[in-house]
Amino acid sequence: MSIYTLAALLDKFGHENHAVCSFNVYNMEFTQGVMQAAQEENVPVVLMISELALEFTPLEMIATICQTAARNSTVPVCILLDHGNSSAVIQECLRMGISVMFDGSNLPLEENIQLTAYYADLAHRHHVSIEAELGSISGGESQIESNTRPFTDPAEAERFMRETGIDALAISIGNRHGFYKGKTELDFSRLKAIREKVDIPLVLHGGSDLPESQINLAIEYGIRKINFGTDVKFAFAQAMKQVLSQDPMPFQPIQILSPCRNAVVEEVRKKIRISRGEGRAGRVAAGAV
Ligand code: G3H
Ligand code: ZN
Repeated sequence: MSIYTLAALLDKFGHENHAVCSFNVYNMEFTQGVMQAAQEENVPVVLMISELALEFTPLEMIATICQTAARNSTVPVCILLDHGNSSAVIQECLRMGISVMFDGSNLPLEENIQLTAYYADLAHRHHVSIEAELGSISGGESQIESNTRPFTDPAEAERFMRETGIDALAISIGNRHGFYKGKTELDFSRLKAIREKVDIPLVLHGGSDLPESQINLAIEYGIRKINFGTDVKFAFAQAMKQVLSQDPMPFQPIQILSPCRNAVVEEVRKKIRISRGEGRAGRVAAGAV
């Protein structure tokens, strides 16, 4: 199967009442686990290489793993740099034909627009896609604590889309990276207002630990790509803890890593099933917000 750009994948599969699932992958076992689940469920998938994880797995190595998995896949795959910030890493990804998410959300609006537009132009000249972020998503990857950053403003989102030429927009509507603290309520009125002004695919980061009902509503109100990281990492770690607590402790890599990879498959499968859009039709019309 050929490798899709983010724009092509979302254009073809991120349609009404359906979001494409996107997963952070860190090594061969994560990549294999995500691909196994996506192929068994027969859905397209995005493999995300987080810039922060490149300290552990060099870009060329993890990109080669993802590209090999994508080429041998029975389902459409996009490979995406996630939360890209370093100019060198972004340019290397573009050279390798990898779509990028540029994260300028910490910058003042004008600088974010300027830099995002620069990378959008560069990405398109390399025939790949670009996702960017407006408003800040707290926790985890961004290392920013909650309540200190603004949610995405609908009018600014329209300007950001128009002046940057991006292919997909990551928004902040109460979503956060990592585990949520307390009750989770996304701001669906804000999502609806953004959707009315922005006609490119909207992306929800921080998909882990979100109740199924919130994911359902997010998709109904226009989210077309959902990012998942933490829940899959947690499943992997729990499986490893369980296998290493056995007595005698298994030490063969295959004995240790097989259950971890299976845990990735199971967790990814759950996310795919939640995000697939089954059984949701009609609830927006019924006035859920
Ligand atoms: O960019 C990656 C995602 O937003 C992952 O978020 O770890 O909260 O699922 P999560
Ligand atoms: Zn994210």
